[in-house]
Amino acid sequence: MTAKIIIGAQWGDEGKGKIVDLLSSDCDVVARYQGGANAGHTVIVGNKKFILHLIPTGILHEKVLCMIGNGVVLDPEAFFDEINFLNENGISAEGRILIYPNTHIIMPYHKILDRLSESKDQKIGTTGKGIGPAYTDKVSRIGIQAIDLLNEKILKQKIEFNLRLKNIILRNHYHADEISFDQIFEEVLEYSKKLLTYISKDSSILSDAILNGKRVLIEGAQGALLDVDHGTYPFVTSSNPTIGGALTGLAISPKMIGETIAVVKAYTTRVGEGPFPTEIRNEIGESLRKNGSEYGATTGRPRRCGWLDLNLLKYSNQINGFDSIAITKLDVLSSFDEIKVCTDYKIRNITLDYFPVDSETLSIVEPNYVTFGGWKTNITGINKYSDIPVEAKEYLKFIEDYLGIKIKIISTGSERSETILL
Ligand code: GDP
Ligand code: IMO
Ligand code: MG
Repeated sequence: MTAKIIIGAQWGDEGKGKIVDLLSSDCDVVARYQGGANAGHTVIVGNKKFILHLIPTGILHEKVLCMIGNGVVLDPEAFFDEINFLNENGISAEGRILIYPNTHIIMPYHKILDRLSESKDQKIGTTGKGIGPAYTDKVSRIGIQAIDLLNEKILKQKIEFNLRLKNIILRNHYHADEISFDQIFEEVLEYSKKLLTYISKDSSILSDAILNGKRVLIEGAQGALLDVDHGTYPFVTSSNPTIGGALTGLAISPKMIGETIAVVKAYTTRVGEGPFPTEIRNEIGESLRKNGSEYGATTGRPRRCGWLDLNLLKYSNQINGFDSIAITKLDVLSSFDEIKVCTDYKIRNITLDYFPVDSETLSIVEPNYVTFGGWKTNITGINKYSDIPVEAKEYLKFIEDYLGIKIKIISTGSERSETILL
């Protein structure tokens, strides 16, 4: 057996939550491999809205076991807030979540440093969840891993060492209050005790599950263009949402991935700073935001909106090697007279035959567009391909032909039933 993986193909918020939820219904395991509580994956079940930040979306299906890989940065506070929220909504996480022993932990000082860095250093427009500082410590080899929470002596030493470094930065660089050991140690210890039962003994759990024929779904967070290596650096997150991140973040081999599914929003959005070639800064962009309710699931910030960018998706596919596409929010385009799609970029009227990987260049490119006639009929909730207007079919066919990838799922609304399976 092999696993399926869901990857956001744009700048995040493509609707991964809805697609993961849909595919989780016949899965045994759902695993997250990167990111942390910066994610916001929305699932609508009847009149209930679930936003999963850190716990795999599969938790909504009773029989699914959820895994949090070593590539994730785990904030214990966010973790237990989410478990409480799930409990309040009748979902038990008891015995259903396993955290890799080498998963890095987000400490209270990471969140403080994230916010200070945003206001005083470089504005990336982060979610303020401590993601960048936690990954910085991981790469600097001073991070605290889940396994450290099981050993009070080691935990104490590591926190003391980290606080000595962090307090120099807090005092001298940010002119902010220092953090005392006592201030955070009790809190961390409290969470450690509660986390004990969730931490697995080794990192072979997912690999074993795949080898044992379990049906496994891997849930990407963020999106390809937010990847720290391949995204619009420095306006990116600090992990690898692209396919490589799944291997390093879950300790599995490339041979274990059987199908890579791109989640593509039928237009483009991004939250935070950074270049966005097809962004529309007029009433059309506002209509996209309004019709698509484009406000951040984690921070509530309005998302920047624009037309679909196929040049970007071609690049995203270069990195991820998508087998199929799940296209979401097609219904949001229903009211437009015309719909544009970017096929490539130009600079000073010269068309580029590549995707610029540096943000400086990407911020000055202009998109070349192909224009489609709109369908002007509300398609919300349609779940049969034959019921889709011909103009929408042409739009989808153009995307498939351009990318050479088949669309297997079309989403026409936020609910489970508002989906066409091809
Ligand atoms: P994720 O981070 O990729 O999981 O996406 P988010 O949950 O942050 O944002 C997607 C939003 O679009 C959520 O509010 C979903 O409920 C909603 N959504 C998902 N698919 C569709 C769809 O096909 N049509 C509409 N109108 N909304 C959708
Ligand atoms: P999901 O999984 C959209 C963006 C932030 C910011 C940048 C860095 O819901 O698609 P960070 O807090 O990660 O250091 O912020 O990345 N960002 C997201 N944008 N969807 C997300 O997750 C995001 N997670 C982070 O807005 O621009
Ligand atoms: Mg989201």
